[in-house]
Amino acid sequence: MKILLTGVNGQVGWELQRTLAPLGEVIAAGREQLDLADTAGIRRMVDTIAPDLIVNPAAYTAVDKAESEPELAHAINATAPGELAQAAAVRGIPLVHFSTDYVFDGRKQGAYREDDAPNPLGVYGATKLAGEQAVQRAGAPHLILRTSWVYGRRGRNFLLTMQRLARERDTLAVVDDQFGAPTWSRLIAEATALVVARWLVLPDQAANSGVYHLSCGGRTSWHGFTAAILAHLARTDEKRASLTAIPSASYPTPAARPANSQLDCDKLAASFGVRLPDWETALALCLEQDLPLLAK
Ligand SMILES: NC(=O)c1ccc[n+]([C@@H]2O[C@H](COP(=O)([O-])OP(=O)(O)OC[C@H]3O[C@@H](n4cnc5c(N)ncnc54)[C@H](OP(=O)(O)O)[C@@H]3O)[C@@H](O)[C@H]2O)c1
Repeated sequence: MKILLTGVNGQVGWELQRTLAPLGEVIAAGREQLDLADTAGIRRMVDTIAPDLIVNPAAYTAVDKAESEPELAHAINATAPGELAQAAAVRGIPLVHFSTDYVFDGRKQGAYREDDAPNPLGVYGATKLAGEQAVQRAGAPHLILRTSWVYGRRGRNFLLTMQRLARERDTLAVVDDQFGAPTWSRLIAEATALVVARWLVLPDQAANSGVYHLSCGGRTSWHGFTAAILAHLARTDEKRASLTAIPSASYPTPAARPANSQLDCDKLAASFGVRLPDWETALALCLEQDLPLLAK
């Protein structure tokens, strides 16, 4: 099986290179090989590679910058996934696409299910929702995996930023009124490979097409997530910042964020037998990678 993987230099794309490798030959395309802003280039690439599966973790993920670059965000998050899905439909092959908790407005009490009505608060969420709809319209068998608060040991993310700031500053002020589930990029990629393997052996992939939530279990605030990161740093660093809680109103950003974006992942567990651990367990697993290699 030939797998065309986009966004290979991103958090999830980087991990998918490895986790998809046991399923087939992974042709990994970064922006240099496949610029998703170039619609014609997408078709050409798919025709040239002739893949059996397309996996698309690439996205315009700069939530605040998207407010001032709505056309570019739309091109990458909505038009490009639509093109990939149409190319997949023409070839009769399946597509795996990723989306976000930011399609929701955060007003629900409790975790969001796949059939809850989306209502994005900003450009990023709106373009990601348009991308979901474009994939669904194209008619190829598809999985749309919505995840949340992605971090990892590589790339631009909250964990790495907080680890750096904790060493540079005396105090950190972090919002405590936005709730969600931090999710390790590696676990997303491992779960995706497992789900894909189980999906592709089903007699009818189209019957299981749709949106699935894929995030770690439990929920916390950005403040709670930071406290857990600092607790880990305390084991190894002498100097680290103290932490205070602030409301979102004290930290204005160009894009509004949902107050609650916890995702209910029961549908994925029921359909494919895959469920990610709680965010705290996942964070501990991720941070364990920090330890030096020990020869026996
Ligand atoms: N990050 C989060 O907190 C979060 C939360 C919920 C859902 N998600 C979703 O999860 C998926 C994976 O996110 P992630 O955290 O892995 O994102 P990421 O680390 O920001 O990586 C995104 C990748 O997309 C690539 N890209 C951007 N514009 C491109 C273009 N014009 N052509 C080709 N590639 C382009 C980037 O390339 P460069 O490396 O060249 O910039 C980058 O490698 C995305 O669908 C995202 O919307 C993310």
